Amino acid sequence: MVPVHAACVLMSLVPLLVLGVPPIWTQPEQVHLSYPGEPGSMGVTWTTLNKTESVVEYGLMGGRLFDMSAKGDATLFVDSGEEKRKMYIHRVTLTGLKPAATYVYHCGSDEGWSDVFFFTALNDSASFSPRFALYGDLGNENPQSLARLQKETQLGMYDVILHIGDFAYDMHEDNARIGDEFMRQIQSIAAYVPYMTCPGNHEST
Ligand SMILES: *[C@@H]1O[C@H](CO)[C@@H](O)[C@H](O)[C@H]1NC(C)=O
Ligand SMILES: *[C@@H]1O[C@H](CO)[C@@H](O)[C@H](O)[C@H]1NC(C)=O
Ligand SMILES: [Fe+2]
Repeated sequence: MVPVHAACVLMSLVPLLVLGVPPIWTQPEQVHLSYPGEPGSMGVTWTTLNKTESVVEYGLMGGRLFDMSAKGDATLFVDSGEEKRKMYIHRVTLTGLKPAATYVYHCGSDEGWSDVFFFTALNDSASFSPRFALYGDLGNENPQSLARLQKETQLGMYDVILHIGDFAYDMHEDNARIGDEFMRQIQSIAAYVPYMTCPGNHEST
């Protein structure tokens, strides 16, 4: 008697899919949102190592996933460190969003997609008062406040994050790898709520 595993029986019923892993140089990373200042809009920014298309696919939460799509473009960024590291910064602006509605999205291109994230479009009511989380001096060796912010942001407790300077001591160290690492760490916040920044003393070079 040869034992027949249920999985083997199942496997024989479905056509075999052979999947390749998206190459690392076209995989989106460092996804973050910003508020362009126009009602009903949201900016989505991310990076890839090689140039790809810049697409955001999105839809209302609870509706059909990704039934809308918007395109933007990518600009080449070359770090000024000695390795001259290159990456592409993608920017897409979503417009015509319903005030205070929650959308689900991912970004990238047919050469690689990000995880799925969600955000709530800004409420345009005159009596609406947005909830801000405001902080400075968030290093990336001991980011104690990060876990709490991750949870509170994903629970929808803030409408905007304001990071007033001094990111990751310092973004340009190690040929900007510290900056890349920092942007990956804050994706768990910045992909869900507009993440607005202004420079601090460590960024003024
Ligand atoms: C990515 O860029 C590298 C270096 O420019 C190149 O060698 C490689 O072929 C590119 N890969 C893709 C998938 O475009
Ligand atoms: C927008 O904000 C106003 C004032 O706080 C509130 O009354 C209204 O319910 C909000 N709109 C939505 C769709 O949540
Ligand atoms: Fe400081």
